[in-house]
Amino acid sequence: MNLTLKIWRQPDPDAEGAVHTYEVSEISEDMSFLEMLDVLNEDLNAKGEEPIAFDSDCREGICGMCSLMINGSAHGPDVTTTCQLHMRSFSDGETITIEPWRSEAFPVVKDLVVDRSSFDRVIQQGGYISANTGSAPEANSVPVGHDKATRAFNMATCIGCGACVASCPNGSASLFVGAKVTQLGLLPQGQPERDSRVVNMVAQADEEGFGGCTNIGECAAACPKEIPLDVISQLNKDLRTAIRHGY
Ligand code: SF4
Ligand code: FES
Repeated sequence: MNLTLKIWRQPDPDAEGAVHTYEVSEISEDMSFLEMLDVLNEDLNAKGEEPIAFDSDCREGICGMCSLMINGSAHGPDVTTTCQLHMRSFSDGETITIEPWRSEAFPVVKDLVVDRSSFDRVIQQGGYISANTGSAPEANSVPVGHDKATRAFNMATCIGCGACVASCPNGSASLFVGAKVTQLGLLPQGQPERDSRVVNMVAQADEEGFGGCTNIGECAAACPKEIPLDVISQLNKDLRTAIRHGY
């Protein structure tokens, strides 16, 4: 495949960015999107030009690092992570536009790399349980029903990629926060901090500059882990309950 790439370049957070155009050739349809960018970077390196900065780590769809807006969609045309997107999803001769995540709470560091430490600070406010250290507890001492365990596990598959935020016109992190609050709220181990968790995580998300949810649903449509929209209902329900409890 031969492709034209229109890529956002921005040398540092304070610089004014611009879209630059590149041509790549002999791209296999079996390559991943990131491998296609590797080919471009090898070419830029060979010419003595600055390679394009982009994030990746596992390249297996599990770490959530590979954040790219591709032709205006978070992670591109398929509902998957960018590292799991293959070039067969594009056509020979196509022009592809590649931008960093769009969100004030994820400022650009360089080119296509954004700072998602705002998610880390939201997690620090409640994305955990408190447990005694020491020897492991007896495995069957806290029974959890199969339905709850399955739903908690499914919510725990959120990889913190930020596609929900990047897709939302409000830049809301409600799907991400909802997934964490729902996961921990389903389990007995999550009950002691349930009220403080939801209040503190929502407050931190507000402080970081994430917007509010207005039920548009772009987040769930873009989520590579299929986190459902109803976690936002659970988030709001838990928040109302915590406020009723005086938090
Ligand atoms: S809810 Fe989905 S889109 Fe949002 S951070 Fe988690 S995995 Fe990514
Ligand atoms: S690089 Fe880890 S999910 Fe894509």
